[in-house]
Amino acid sequence: MHSLQVPPSAPTILLTGATGTVGQALAQTLAERGIAFRALVRQPGAPATQRLAAIAGAEVVPGDFDDPASLQRALTGIERAFLLTNSTEQAEAQQLRFVELARQAGVPHLVKLSQWAADAASPVRFLRYHATVEQAIRAAGLTFTFLRPNLFMQGLLAFKGSIQAQGQFFAPIGEARISVIDVRDIAAVAAAALTEPGHENQTYNLTGPAALTHAEMAAHLAAAVGYPVTFVDVAPAALRGYLAEAGFPEWQAEGLLEDYAHYHRGEAAVVAAGVQQATGQPPRDFVAFARDYAPAFR
Ligand SMILES: NC(=O)c1ccc[n+]([C@@H]2O[C@H](COP(=O)([O-])OP(=O)(O)OC[C@H]3O[C@@H](n4cnc5c(N)ncnc54)[C@H](OP(=O)(O)O)[C@@H]3O)[C@@H](O)[C@H]2O)c1
Repeated sequence: MHSLQVPPSAPTILLTGATGTVGQALAQTLAERGIAFRALVRQPGAPATQRLAAIAGAEVVPGDFDDPASLQRALTGIERAFLLTNSTEQAEAQQLRFVELARQAGVPHLVKLSQWAADAASPVRFLRYHATVEQAIRAAGLTFTFLRPNLFMQGLLAFKGSIQAQGQFFAPIGEARISVIDVRDIAAVAAAALTEPGHENQTYNLTGPAALTHAEMAAHLAAAVGYPVTFVDVAPAALRGYLAEAGFPEWQAEGLLEDYAHYHRGEAAVVAAGVQQATGQPPRDFVAFARDYAPAFR
């Protein structure tokens, strides 16, 4: 008797940005639910790609947003695609190219990682390009789900060095409150939109359950890690100098400064119900984030 070897069917979900902060959490969430996916990666040998390739149900395909032929190959046979790039000067053109190629390939549904307060008239360049891409997806006639998360709690990991060495992290943000969100909840919403009905043509504003100051976040983090952590408010010029020294491209550095000014004005303090609406679960609070990530700061 020969057993019949049925090849596993090709995934119908495509992830972009799957080696990044949100994408890794999304890949993990899909894997936990036993859902196969294809992931476009530009660095096949990178450790993050290798971790991704080791996930059961992951089909890793090489590609780059700047290589249209690779996008066409990756989009073949796809029913729902998750669109994410980081916010660089190329992001708008890269995402618009992806949208057009998805339309040409007949991909019915795009799930786009956008940003809280995306608006074509925003003074924040990141919020303008996200709004432009959202509009292009609508204009292309594609079914969409737009995820507009607020500032990521996991952004604090970028300050791991100064938190460990000096017990401090920095931002030009003052006493502003921000309804920060755990990336794992963004991933849960994305997974729902990619795998369930009911998220068609929805825009989800995604926040955590409370708006916190950075000083309050520092206090929660200190309690979780067991050593003093304080937040230091700095002038925008100081951040500009730091980013220039770190070699940040000017476009991105100015965008970050615009982003921080938007937070400083209190424009990201509203608590929204998007996570609950999309997943039926409340979002994680900052205390849970601090507890779960404390080992990373020790
Ligand atoms: N940080 C926040 O607090 C926040 C808040 C709201 C919204 N957002 C939005 O979140 C997005 C960033 O998400 P993230 O933090 O998860 O990003 P990330 O960690 O910087 O990851 C970016 C991903 O995009 C991939 N990528 C970049 N350029 C590419 C190219 N040319 N071709 C193929 N792949 C490419 C990267 O691949 P490699 O691994 O090869 O680099 C990586 O997988 C931005 O759109 C931002 O506006 C951020």
